[in-house]
Amino acid sequence: MTQSGMTDTGMTDTGMTKARTVKTGMTEAGMTENGTTTAGAVAAGTVADGAVAAGAADRAQGAGRVEGADRVGRVARARATEAGPAGAAPDGARAGLRIVVLGASGMVGSRVTREAAARGHRVLALARKPASDDPAVTPVAVDARDPATLRAALAASRADAVVLAVRTEPADRDFLVDTARTVLDAAARTGARVLVVGGAGALRSPGRPELLVADDPAYVPEDLRPVAAAGVAQLRAAQEHAHGDWVYLSPPALLEPGRRTGRYRRGGDTLLTAADGRSWISAEDLAAAVVDELESPGSERHVTVVHREGPPAA
Ligand SMILES: NC(=O)c1ccc[n+]([C@@H]2O[C@H](COP(=O)([O-])OP(=O)(O)OC[C@H]3O[C@@H](n4cnc5c(N)ncnc54)[C@H](OP(=O)(O)O)[C@@H]3O)[C@@H](O)[C@H]2O)c1
Repeated sequence: MTQSGMTDTGMTDTGMTKARTVKTGMTEAGMTENGTTTAGAVAAGTVADGAVAAGAADRAQGAGRVEGADRVGRVARARATEAGPAGAAPDGARAGLRIVVLGASGMVGSRVTREAAARGHRVLALARKPASDDPAVTPVAVDARDPATLRAALAASRADAVVLAVRTEPADRDFLVDTARTVLDAAARTGARVLVVGGAGALRSPGRPELLVADDPAYVPEDLRPVAAAGVAQLRAAQEHAHGDWVYLSPPALLEPGRRTGRYRRGGDTLLTAADGRSWISAEDLAAAVVDELESPGSERHVTVVHREGPPAA
């Protein structure tokens, strides 16, 4: 991913003296680990967080088609139509944002960080062990289990937006909910927009709008229900919070490292399925959707995205 002419040192002017800054160069170790995990889950027909059972995609396909009229992701309209570096922001989009990514070393967070930096935003990359040699990215070591430190980091960041992309193994519902509340509390004080990268389980089940994916045994096997429930609890925490400027982005069922196509389809709060019958997106395209959502905020509180095929190669 190329840089967009960023020459300053990102958010180092935020006065974050308490947090230890790590500048050891970008490591792919976390992503490799996550990629392996996710790929294994895909092969098994389930996804760690989306927890979709094999065969459920067939059922989901109809709903995906029904929702085919959903808005095509803005990235598809405004940016590159094929894989490649992100282009200039579309008209009306917010440029030069200061973005905090909490969970910046993870599968999603690392890609959001790179996508945002490549588009000329400045990123404060928060995790327990963050690392980046990108001048537009400032890694800050923060343990979110210490809310006071997290609050201080967020307050000092003067961020326009905070992306919450934290995950634990096994799923720690209380920690995830508490962290969401801490982020929303801080954002309410500073006026930052919050984007929670949540779970597919919080979406409505295709064809059964009264049922959440998390509660649908066709999608979520018993042993993965706690993971799905934790994502739902994060959504509820946001819905109950007084801060009004947030959006919860549910990935589709399958989310795995892959190729940045710059294309996706965006929907509301029902699980979407791609044209190939699978409910999936690459983590790279999800990251593009996250940054689109920050640059051009929509009015919906709960959205999802899914892979979108492009025109066949000439
Ligand atoms: N289909 C789906 O619905 C689906 C699939 C995958 C992911 N997701 C969701 O996407 C989001 C991101 O998941 P992911 O796969 O990117 O997770 P991941 O690769 O496991 O990364 C988790 C991130 O959280 C950070 N983290 C964990 N504990 C922390 C703590 N105490 N303090 C600070 N940072 C902490 C980790 O950094 P350190 O370890 O360095 O602290 C890491 O950056 C999650 O909400 C997950 O549920 C949804």
